[in-house]
This record gives sequence, structure tokens and C-alpha cells, in this order.
Amino acid sequence: MNNFSFQNPTKLIMGRGTIAELGKEIPAGKKVMITFGGGSVKKNGVYDQVKAALKDFRTVEFWGIEPNPAIETLRKAIALGKEEKVDFLLAVGGGSVIDGTKLISAGLLYEGDAWDLVKKGSSALTVPLATVLTLPATGSEMNNGAVISCHETKEKYPFYANFPVFSILDPQVTFTLPAHQIACGIADTFVHVIEQYLTKTGESRLMDRWAESILQTLVEIAPKIRENKEDYQLMADFMMSATMALNGFIAMGVSQDWSTHMIGHELTALAGLTHGHTLAIVLPGTMQVLRKEKGDKIIQMGERVFGVTEGTHDERIDETIRRTEAFFRSLGLTTRLGEEHIGMEIVDEIERRFTERDVHFGEDGLVDGKTAKEILMKVL
Ligand code: NZQ
Ligand code: ZN
Repeated sequence: MNNFSFQNPTKLIMGRGTIAELGKEIPAGKKVMITFGGGSVKKNGVYDQVKAALKDFRTVEFWGIEPNPAIETLRKAIALGKEEKVDFLLAVGGGSVIDGTKLISAGLLYEGDAWDLVKKGSSALTVPLATVLTLPATGSEMNNGAVISCHETKEKYPFYANFPVFSILDPQVTFTLPAHQIACGIADTFVHVIEQYLTKTGESRLMDRWAESILQTLVEIAPKIRENKEDYQLMADFMMSATMALNGFIAMGVSQDWSTHMIGHELTALAGLTHGHTLAIVLPGTMQVLRKEKGDKIIQMGERVFGVTEGTHDERIDETIRRTEAFFRSLGLTTRLGEEHIGMEIVDEIERRFTERDVHFGEDGLVDGKTAKEILMKVL
């Protein structure tokens, strides 16, 4: 186990009808900017619940934070928040609305252009923010990360700021999610666990088993959710899996490898593919190319998550990769670039960008531009 320090200050409020508790959680007297996406919350009653719970607060609304939140939109929210002198932010939506609001919370206290903060990678100075989560996937409701895009330059970068003060998770609000968003959310959750697990063996028995328990849960509930996405207990397990996958709990003292995500961000920035979907395509390629370095852990995963116990070392690795891809396909996602009409032009551009940025992702720093290209070539 490696040295680590751990702190997660977010209060989780989970269950039926919990949006009504909003008014108790936000300090009295705050002027709250509520941020939304494109309008799903108006159709499923979440908006009405939020407004009713905040009836005693002064509020300002900002609408239109799009999937893969763009700096172009967030600049407008920051300008509005400064003008209205808001001192509390409430993000109501999926990861995109929450991530965008994290940048707004830093941008409100920054004089210059908020894109500077994204390029810097982090900001310590922020206005407090809380969330009402409507889409289980990113873990943004209980971590301090955000991923911000720039349409003008087709770039997408991680940015670190504040943990939400509290997050409200009512599984009932997920019943209106489109099947594709559920598939992408499950794939995203699965790969978050993988990026903190599929590295080296023997670093922590406990972290390994926590990680495997989330993977096992996803494999068990995914086909059932496809049959009935309005099953409260299933969606509650999905929601908790997504939160636990990326709130720091399974990362204590173990190596991490975020290369699949970093390649995935480029596919979104350059080709517009939904985040979770990019990961379903890239991960089998990452496992293939790094099969020597990750082999022992792939075998452990195969045995404990998919029950793969037969065959030689290489056969078990192959079978685990095959089962991983089959799991993504069982969600209804494609797993090849060609199926999404993405060809060599984009693969070459990702290699070029990574080489220019001199990146070395992965637990051993092995994923640079050349390796990223190799990974993508495996999933053409
Ligand atoms: O915009 P609205 O109308 O609300 O519709 C959204 C959006 O179109 C819809 N939706 C959300 N909840 C719904 C719903 N539709 C019906 N019923 C509901 N209950 O779903 C669509 C997608 O929403 P989005 O927020 O974009 O999805 P997600 O939560 O997957 O977030 C993706 C973003 O998060 C980033 C991704 O890169 C991407 O930009 N990530 C953030 C991370 C973090 N902060 O730690 C980590 C992740 O790895 C990820 O990179
Ligand atoms: Zn992700």
C-alpha cells in the first residue's frame, strides 16, 4: 500500500423525496444561483421540487449547461453570477451541469477569463456549491473534479476545484433517463473503477475487493436495469455504485491509470462521442496493449468479476478482455471506432496532440502519443 491522505467532506443525502430537504441544508440568507442543463428537469418534476424546497431563498436560474460543458457557456453563467452577487451555487443535473458549476464557482472569484483556470488545472478559491444529481455516472456529486470543454479549439481538460458541500440523490429522478444515457453511465462507472484497480496486484486487498464489489454489482444489475429502469432498488444500487466509484474511497494507497479516460476525452472533443461510450471503445484496446504490464491484475479481475478460471495465462487475459467488451456490448453500446465512423484522421490527431503535450499517462507512464495510437488501432 502506498502512502496517502484522504478527506471527503461531501454530505450525501440519499433516498425518496430527499430534494425537499434542500431548504434545510443551504445556510439561510444565501443568494443561490441554480444551474441546469437543457430542460430534462422540467419534464420529470425535479425542477418543481427544487423550486418548492427553495421558496424561502433568493434565487437566480442559469439554463443551458450542455453535455460536456463548454467554457463558452460557462463564461455567461459566471458573468450572471457576478452581476447578481450570488454566494451559493446549486447544480441540478448530471455530471455536465455539476462540472460546469464547479468551474463557475471558481470563476466567480477570479478576475480573468475562467479558461485560464482550466489550463492551470485547479483552483483553490471557490464559492460553495451543492448538487441535486439526476444521472448516476461521473461521481462529480462527491468529488472535486470537473471536465471542461472548449468548442472553439475542440479541447477537453480535467480541472480540480471544490467538493460539493452536500449532494442529494433521489433514485426516483433517474427513471426518466434515456436508455443510451444509462448505458453510458454504467460504462463510465465501470471504467472509473478500472482506472483505480487495473494496475498492479498486491497493493491492497481491501481496495481490490471494494473495487471488485462495484464491478460485480454493475455486472449483476446492468441486464436487470435494461429490463426495468424504473426499479427503485436497482437504480439506488446503480447510483451508489457511481458515487462510490469516484469519490476517493477505492483509491486509497493504490496505483491509478487514467489513460483510457484521457484518450476518451479526445474522442469526445474531436468526434463528439458521449463520454461513457468513448470508454467502452477505448478500454478493451488499453487492456490489449498493456496486457504484459497489467496481466496479473487482468487475471485477478477475470476470476473475481467474470468467473474466468480456466486456461493458460494468455488465454485467461484474452477471455477477460473479451468478457469486458461483451459487457459493454450487452449495455447496447458499440465498441469499435469504425462503428462510430471514426477513422485514422482522428487517431493520428490524438497521437499528435499527446506527443506535442508530452504526456505519459498510466501507472508506469507508458501511455504517450505512440501508445495511445496503438491502443486505438486495436479497436478500429
Ligand atoms: O441537459 P438535460 O436536459 O438535463 O439532459 C441531460 C443530458 O442531455 C440528460 N439527463 C440527465 N439527467 C436526466 C436526463 N434526461 C432525463 N432524465 C434525467 N434524470 O442526460 C444527458 C447527459 O447528461 P450529462 O450531464 O452530460 O451526463 P454525465 O452525467 O454522464 O456527464 C458527462 C460529463 O461528465 C464528465 C464527462 O467528461 C462529461 O463531460 N466527467 C466528469 C467527471 C468528474 N467530475 O469527476 C469524471 C468523469 O470521468 C467524466 O469525465
Ligand atoms: Zn468517466
